[in-house]
Amino acid sequence: AGRPAGLSVVLVGDDPASAVYVRSKGKATRAAGMHGVEHVLPADTTQPALMTLVDRLNADPAIDGILVQLPLPRHLDEWAVVSRIDPDKDVDGLHPVNVGRLANGVPGLRPCTPLGSLLLLEGLGAPLAGQEAVVLGRSQLVGRPVAQLLVNANCTVTVAHSRTRDVAAHVGRADIVIAAVGIPGFVKADWVKPGATVIDVGINRVAGGLVGDVDPAVAEVAGALTPVPGGVGPMTIACLLRNTLEAACRREGVAFGL
Ligand code: GUN
Repeated sequence: AGRPAGLSVVLVGDDPASAVYVRSKGKATRAAGMHGVEHVLPADTTQPALMTLVDRLNADPAIDGILVQLPLPRHLDEWAVVSRIDPDKDVDGLHPVNVGRLANGVPGLRPCTPLGSLLLLEGLGAPLAGQEAVVLGRSQLVGRPVAQLLVNANCTVTVAHSRTRDVAAHVGRADIVIAAVGIPGFVKADWVKPGATVIDVGINRVAGGLVGDVDPAVAEVAGALTPVPGGVGPMTIACLLRNTLEAACRREGVAFGL
């Protein structure tokens, strides 16, 4: 269509982890030849000011994708902000319209980390249909959407969470384990069925650096295990760029071939 796809990433406040994520998203956007803009707003930004920025980005013809980095400072209403984004520019897939599209298994923008996890599973080449998948965690960003993507891919899906009885027994049945609980080393080697595929979505800051939700000893039992860092994280950023390109193609009436 004669122009680069455009992505705006909005950061409110000075959470150090969020600042790192936003910077790396902006860098990756420009490295891919896209138009990338970061909007960094002070922690005391008001709800109306943030809504006005979203409105401006919704109306900006050079911007195809809008991502508001979460969590927002406590005085701001995340649900209201995400709901204000044009669903067709919602490259995070968190707008209620896109959540509904995913729940119904119809086309729409999908959340980046869940999409990246599915692409990793598909990349192994084995059919997903009929596989037993256990998702650990039920968050808005990962657990719920990844469970729905797996259902749409014809897996048999169990969602386990903090109130689940005997998590180990559920994990032991799984051909696919998605760990997204935010507890360092939560998944133990003696829980995992030999040969299972384990996707570690955890990014936990501990004294020794970054660690996942999966005990490293799981590597000796699993058929495949994603590393932390360097596994799901880069896939999340790749999927953000993919969603931005998809949104741009849709807005320009160009076929999206990925
Ligand atoms: N914070 C942590 N992960 C994410 C994400 O995928 N999207 C947004 N908007 N914020 C996040």
